Amino acid sequence: MHGKVVGAYMKNRIRTREFSINDYDAAVELWKRVEGLEIAEGDDKASVARFLTRNPGLSRVATNGSAIIGVSLCGHDGRRGHIYHLAVHPRYQGVGLGKRLVQECFSGLRDAGIQRAIILVANDNARGREFWKRCDWEELSGALAMGKDVVAASPPMTNE
Ligand SMILES: CC(C)(COP(=O)(O)OP(=O)(O)OC[C@H]1O[C@@H](n2cnc3c(N)ncnc32)[C@H](O)[C@@H]1OP(=O)(O)O)[C@@H](O)C(=O)NCCC(=O)NCCS
Repeated sequence: MHGKVVGAYMKNRIRTREFSINDYDAAVELWKRVEGLEIAEGDDKASVARFLTRNPGLSRVATNGSAIIGVSLCGHDGRRGHIYHLAVHPRYQGVGLGKRLVQECFSGLRDAGIQRAIILVANDNARGREFWKRCDWEELSGALAMGKDVVAASPPMTNE
C-alpha cells in the first residue's frame, strides 16, 4: 500500500475549498515537500495570483484545521483544461484526497464548458503516473510535449 494510513478521526476533519492566494506560502511548502513536482517559471506569487484571477474557483486546497494538506492548480484556456502541481501531504496520501481534488477541478471545468483536460507528468515520476492512470487518464502516445520560454525568446523583427 502507498502512503500512510489516516485514521477515521483525521479523515473526518479534512475539508476542501477554493485555493486563495493567501494559501500560496503553504502551497509552496507542500510542493517542496512532495516528490515528483518541480517549482518552475510561473510559480512565483504574482504569477499564481494572476492564474487564480484568470481561472476563478477552479484551483483547490484540502485542509485539516488550519493546515494545507492538499493542493491543485486548475485553469483553462477556453479550449483545454489544465491541472498543475497536484500534491497531497505524504501523511495524507492514499486516502482518496488527490482524486477528490481532481474531481473538484473537473467539476469546475465542466461548469466552464471545457471538454478535455491535459496534464504533464515528469518522466521520472512513476508514482504520479500510476495515480493518473488509476484515475483513468490516458497516455498520449501520439504526442510529444514541447516547451519554450516566452520571455527569453527574441522579439519579432519589425517593419521599420
Ligand atoms: C499523486 C498524488 C497527488 C496522489 O494523491 P493521493 O491522495 O495519494 O491519491 P488518492 O488516494 O486519491 O488515489 C486515487 C487512486 O489512485 C491510486 N493511487 C494513488 N497513488 C498510487 C500509486 N503510487 N500507485 C498506484 N496507485 C496509486 C489509489 O490507490 C486510488 O485508487 P482507487 O481509486 O482505486 O482507490 C500524491 O501521491 C502526491 O502528492 N504525489 C507527489 C506529487 C505528484 O507527483 N503530483 C503529481 C504531479 S503530475
